[in-house]
Amino acid sequence: MKAVKITEGIYCLPVNLESYKLFEGMWPMPNGISINSYIVQGEQTALIDLLEDVGDKPADFDAEMASIGINAAGIDYLILNHMEPDHTSWLPVFHARNPAMKIFLTGKAKQLLKDFCGIDNNVEVIKDGDTLDLGKGKVLTFYETPNIHWPETMMTYESSSGTLFACDAFGSYGTLNNVYFDDQLSTSQHDFFINEALRYYANIVSSFSTFVSKGIQRLSALDIKVIAPSHGIIWRENPQAIIDSYTRFAGYLNGPAEAEVTVIWSSMYGNTEKLVNNIVQGVRSAGLPVHVHRVPDDHVGLILASAWKSSGIILGMPTYEYEMFPPMAWVLDMFRRKKIWNKKVLRFGSAGWSGGAQRELDQLTEKLKWEFIEPIEWKGAPTDIELDLALKQGRLLADKVKEFCAT
Ligand code: FEO
Repeated sequence: MKAVKITEGIYCLPVNLESYKLFEGMWPMPNGISINSYIVQGEQTALIDLLEDVGDKPADFDAEMASIGINAAGIDYLILNHMEPDHTSWLPVFHARNPAMKIFLTGKAKQLLKDFCGIDNNVEVIKDGDTLDLGKGKVLTFYETPNIHWPETMMTYESSSGTLFACDAFGSYGTLNNVYFDDQLSTSQHDFFINEALRYYANIVSSFSTFVSKGIQRLSALDIKVIAPSHGIIWRENPQAIIDSYTRFAGYLNGPAEAEVTVIWSSMYGNTEKLVNNIVQGVRSAGLPVHVHRVPDDHVGLILASAWKSSGIILGMPTYEYEMFPPMAWVLDMFRRKKIWNKKVLRFGSAGWSGGAQRELDQLTEKLKWEFIEPIEWKGAPTDIELDLALKQGRLLADKVKEFCAT
């Protein structure tokens, strides 16, 4: 791969991680992900963010540097917007090639740099609003944006081009293959990256949505012409599109999200499964879109995106040994961790000799600000009574969602 020119003196160095890898060791990436570093050249040269030390990816990065006639010795400044190892685990190797380069980072990143990379020399801790003049009109300004999504995070803005190097913010899953900018995307590719941004957001960023909203508000005074994230497509034709998407995603925390319903169901012997079709029909009869996921077949990383975006959640879950069916318990615990808040919720599910799933569900979700409607619970196989109720309660939940979204 070659470096991708954004404008005179500014280049993106994207490296693709393919789909075999789990991001953060747990999130499936069916479409892979790119890790984007950036070069800004004035009289002096800055490298913004780095990459993970995985497979032959550092060799790809070296080739991209070479394509614009740069190597490690030519880097005067390394800007570390974020210390997570997908951007820094190759840093010890790279740094050893040029220990004289000066590293700019936040105060909280300094300790992380030492802990993760063993580096503590030639380090300059920035204060919010500090600038670095590279010459030839290229000036970098640093903005502290804590908790998007680690406590040490910052963003870097190059004023002559209006480029915001946002690191994880405004990022998405999806590799970059010969298409790097939003203006090169077809409509379906554009939708693809917005959907991949949502899944990335729900997996990685959602717990920090309050900080995302604050950060976007704070950066709104900047004249942003290009959003250059550390994952995914570069937004230069319409940067507002990804800013608006992230603003919307962050707003889902307090709801309402979209007028949609996500059905997540699991079944041991098919008795809970027997209600799924009627539940879905009930929701559809109100005209709402429905996303259906079976657990444990679908990974929670995929389920989180539709749950984050939906104002309504329906859980099909039997009781298992007096408690929730364990694969669903894992999904719901992830909902708690990722702050799937402010939803309208229905649960249905069978039990053998005793119930108990609803009781544990109520306890687990008591801080999630969920409003439940009457659950559908039965012992053994469902009868026509439960099948009829599934239609009615599916419809009722959908009507609640519509009412919520109309507020
Ligand atoms: Fe792309 Fe939080 O690292």
